[in-house]
Formats: sequence, structure tokens, C-alpha cells
Amino acid sequence: MDKLPAPRAVLFDAYGTLFDVYSVALAAEQLFPGAGERLAQAWRDKQIEYTRLVSMSGRYQPFWDLTRAALQFSAARLGLALAPEGEQRLMNEYRHLSAFPENHAVLAELKSRGVRAGILSNGDPEMLAVAVRSAGLSDLIDPVLSVHETRRFKTDPAAYAIGPAALSLPVREILFVSSNGWDAIGATWFGYTTLWVNRGGLPLERLGTEPTRTGRSLRDVLDFFPS
Ligand code: LAC
Repeated sequence: MDKLPAPRAVLFDAYGTLFDVYSVALAAEQLFPGAGERLAQAWRDKQIEYTRLVSMSGRYQPFWDLTRAALQFSAARLGLALAPEGEQRLMNEYRHLSAFPENHAVLAELKSRGVRAGILSNGDPEMLAVAVRSAGLSDLIDPVLSVHETRRFKTDPAAYAIGPAALSLPVREILFVSSNGWDAIGATWFGYTTLWVNRGGLPLERLGTEPTRTGRSLRDVLDFFPS
């Protein structure tokens, strides 16, 4: 393995990295048999597209609101009749996402190695607080940083700048971990040391930049921090 100075803290992306967003597909499948997976995927893509749209135009809306708007759009786009109760059910599902199975042990191990581990997410503070709590990670995650205060979503540099400011560390000494390829690239451009947790076995973004390392699960974070 390449020799890197050990970073001094970790910041995790939340949705898709710590919390399994596609677990909503199950609930979607119950509502719309045969279309749950497609709805979950379209919903996620539209949600991220909306963050970019409002960020680029200086028209910030909180992630929760964009998530609901993206759900409504995606259902309509797929020709699915989404009643208010169904919408509420899926939004509730999004609020209480499952954590990936290895998360708890990895975060506990980081804590025992004395490594500070936080979140830097597009999610607004309230939805992040609920997600961290319901995934049972409250004692293991600190700080929980939201882009909300900047009114800019990742990959805007203003959003990534929250990390080094909050941790009082040079950006290169912070490991930023995301399962979203675009987020790992954005963070690399900003100057973080990065790990792309490529859970889906996806191709690397073709933008001429590579994350510092690529892994397949959150466990790969521990390689950065010798015990
Ligand atoms: C987040 C989204 C991008 O948590 O996954 O920031």
C-alpha cells in the first residue's frame, strides 16, 4: 500500500455512505410492485440534480424539501400515482434509513484508535440529527456538519470548506469518505485526502482526477489509521 501520512480526522458523507438510501426501495416496492427499484433510483438521481440546480442558481432550499420535490417528480415521471399517504410513508422511510452493517464496528474502532469521526453532508441539520440517532450512531459521530449554513450544496467549495474550519485542521489532514464518486472527486479537488467507497462497483468519473484511494466498504477507512 502507498505510504501516506495518517490523516488526523475523518468526515463521512451521509446518504449512501453511512446510511443506505436504497433501503427505501423496499418500501417503494410495497407501494408500487415491480417499480420500487426504479423509483428509488430516479428519486436519488433527481434529488442530487436538484441540489446542483438550486446551488448553481443561488436558490437554496433545504435538502429535505428537495428530497420531497424529487420524490414527487420521479413518481410523476414514472407514471406512478403517489397519494399523500404514500409520499408520507416514503419520506418517513428516508428519515429513518438503515446504516450499512459494518458502520458501527468501523466507527467504534476509529474511536478506540483516537480518531475523530464526523459527517459533512448535504442533509439539513434536523434530518441528519434524526438519521444519526435512529441509526444508533450518536456516540460515535462528532461533529455532524451540514452544508445548510452556507446555502450551497456539495460540490460547491463553500460546502467543503466547512470541514477544515470546524475541525481546525488543514484540509489535507482530513480524510473525506464518500460512496458517491462525484462527491469523492469534488472533495479531492477541494484538497481533502479522500476515500471513495465504491459499493456499487461503478466506473470512476472520467474527469481526470482520482480519489486518494478507492475501497469497497467502510472498513477500508481503517487502513488510513494504523492501530
Ligand atoms: C450527502 C449526500 C450527497 O449526505 O449523500 O451529502
